[in-house]
Amino acid sequence: MRTLAPLAPIIAIALASPALAEEVATASSPDGHITVSIDRDGEGHFSYAIAKDGVRLVDYSRLGFLMDNAPPLSRFLELEEVSTDNADTSWEQPWGENRMVRDRHNELSLKLHDTDYQDRRVTVRFRLFDDGVGFRYEFPDAGTTAIAEELTEFNIAEPGTAWWIPGGDWNRYEYLYSETPIEGVGTAHTPITFKLEDGTHLAFHEAALVDYAGMWLRRMDGRRFRAELSPGSGQAKVVREGAFTTPWRTIRISDDAAGLYDNNIDLNLNEPNKLGDVSWVKPYKYVGIWWAMHLNDWTWNSGPNHGATTSHAKDYIDFAAANGFRGVLIEGWNKGWDGNWFGNGSDFSFTQAYPDFDIEEVTRYGLKKGVHLVGHHETGGNIANYEPHLEDAMALYERLGVDSVKTGYVADAGGVKLLPTAGNPVRYGWHDGQEMARHHLKVVETAAKHHIAVNPHEPIKDTGLRRTYPNWVSREGARGMEYQAWGVPGNIPSHVPSLIFTRMLSGPMDYTPGVLSLKGRDGRDLPSTIARQLALYVTLYSPIQMAADLPENYAKYPREFAFIKQVPTDWEETHTLMGEVADYAVMARKERGGTDWYLGGVTDEEARDVAVPLDFLDAGKTYTATIYRDGADADYRTDKRHSIAIETKTVKRGDTLDLRMAPGGGFAVRLAPAK
Ligand code: NOJ
Ligand code: CA
Repeated sequence: MRTLAPLAPIIAIALASPALAEEVATASSPDGHITVSIDRDGEGHFSYAIAKDGVRLVDYSRLGFLMDNAPPLSRFLELEEVSTDNADTSWEQPWGENRMVRDRHNELSLKLHDTDYQDRRVTVRFRLFDDGVGFRYEFPDAGTTAIAEELTEFNIAEPGTAWWIPGGDWNRYEYLYSETPIEGVGTAHTPITFKLEDGTHLAFHEAALVDYAGMWLRRMDGRRFRAELSPGSGQAKVVREGAFTTPWRTIRISDDAAGLYDNNIDLNLNEPNKLGDVSWVKPYKYVGIWWAMHLNDWTWNSGPNHGATTSHAKDYIDFAAANGFRGVLIEGWNKGWDGNWFGNGSDFSFTQAYPDFDIEEVTRYGLKKGVHLVGHHETGGNIANYEPHLEDAMALYERLGVDSVKTGYVADAGGVKLLPTAGNPVRYGWHDGQEMARHHLKVVETAAKHHIAVNPHEPIKDTGLRRTYPNWVSREGARGMEYQAWGVPGNIPSHVPSLIFTRMLSGPMDYTPGVLSLKGRDGRDLPSTIARQLALYVTLYSPIQMAADLPENYAKYPREFAFIKQVPTDWEETHTLMGEVADYAVMARKERGGTDWYLGGVTDEEARDVAVPLDFLDAGKTYTATIYRDGADADYRTDKRHSIAIETKTVKRGDTLDLRMAPGGGFAVRLAPAK
């Protein structure tokens, strides 16, 4: 690390004026293309700007905080010290889209001194990568820090288009994406994606959200956004004792949409694995007593149509064993689903099964056949009821050989029931406030002690913590397949190519693909072709993937089901070959520890012809491509949704595959070295 004097002398200006701003530090990415400039105005405010190849992408944007127990930390700041650093390392993911991740960055940190109030200090640390920038604040030990609001701004320099979902609204992250001019955004969740007029793509998010409130982006005026922290249940949004750091605020920068996805800055800004040996975390595929409830055929609650019975469970275990699925998810096994679980979750037990579900017998039966029960803890967003039982619930699963659990937090945003405090027995909060950030990590850490992997639905957003806690294998955090059963509206075809370049930038999603019947509740049609259902396994990454449809439906589509049985869930390499946000995407992934490549493509409502260069294939090998593509007459709007062409071709590196995607369609291809 090098410590430098400030680049320019800071002079106290009597008649302070923001106009008298001067640049006090700059840094560039390792390849020199991206630069960050820091400036200080005459009132002692600090701002940062970002440019690529000399073109400003983020205009000067202010840094700082409103405090709950002190004056704002924003004005009257002096630059006390500037230091720089750099790194170029690689690290291995226990599972993921890529085995190896390179972390190559330059660092710039600025120690700021508040000369006006108690000699406060805060350090702002920037990391510049060749494909983006991250920065965070680092607070030294100053007793209790109570943050009322973060004042960090993101001032986009050029006009363009934004893809976003509303932040601070009742349905958490479960919205269809809006496509608007940047000036049309309201308050948005991150990741939020922008395409500027010159074609540059930006995506704003955060990394390592630990013991802090989730960040929404609120558009203040024009193209200027400001961090808005998810509210706490008290006055301050964040309360911390002693020294702490904020999450990293991250900005991915790419010439095209594909480069936003093939980007690891958020993972690189997380701490390395803290769990040690995680060989007990297994990527897998699963089936489950699940879609039947969403169809209203079976129920979560007890009664004549109870889904989670010992007998149904054994049928599913037999089905999983016969078809090579490691897991069977069973929802509705535990007491508490009768009555208004949706509204409060206070009746849920996490250890007691309904009388018609013999959990000991079911798990024993499964393990005999090599099939693992995937545990389920729906909380109804009632943390006050869940946390006291966490340890017992995880211990039960460990004893039964259950090594993964899906959790759920169904509750309106702001309607999560938090733990009581002295003098305040009833407390509600947001699903992404500081207390929920703490809660999710507590679940993950408790589960890790019992060697259990966690997959939360209605979660807090992913900020790359899977690097630090590799048992945090997946999560929902967007509209998944369930909306195709009962959503009004359902997920429109552009939803998937929207997800890929927004939500999926943050990490794995348990979308639960593979509904080959293409039927939802009451016989409604899924807006999808059958080939697209296969494409979802390649394009929507998760190390755990469900085959969501009913076993009797898979029996009707054996050729397509063969692909679902075969497709891996863990990858050596991933390449986004082409795409446009909300329009289409084509991705290639190589099986982890194997030789096969998989190709997937999805489109929106438009039919699309793509010429896919097979440059990713290993040189010198001949491959047999098994292609699952939309039939010539396939169309998500007609009764030709099941029209598919399945064919094989011999190909090699350098060849091009011409593929046509139908409206609402897609394709999946397995490329295996020819024998
Ligand atoms: C919502 C989840 O997303 C879904 O997968 C689950 O079946 C229900 N909650 C019930 O827990
Ligand atoms: Ca959900």
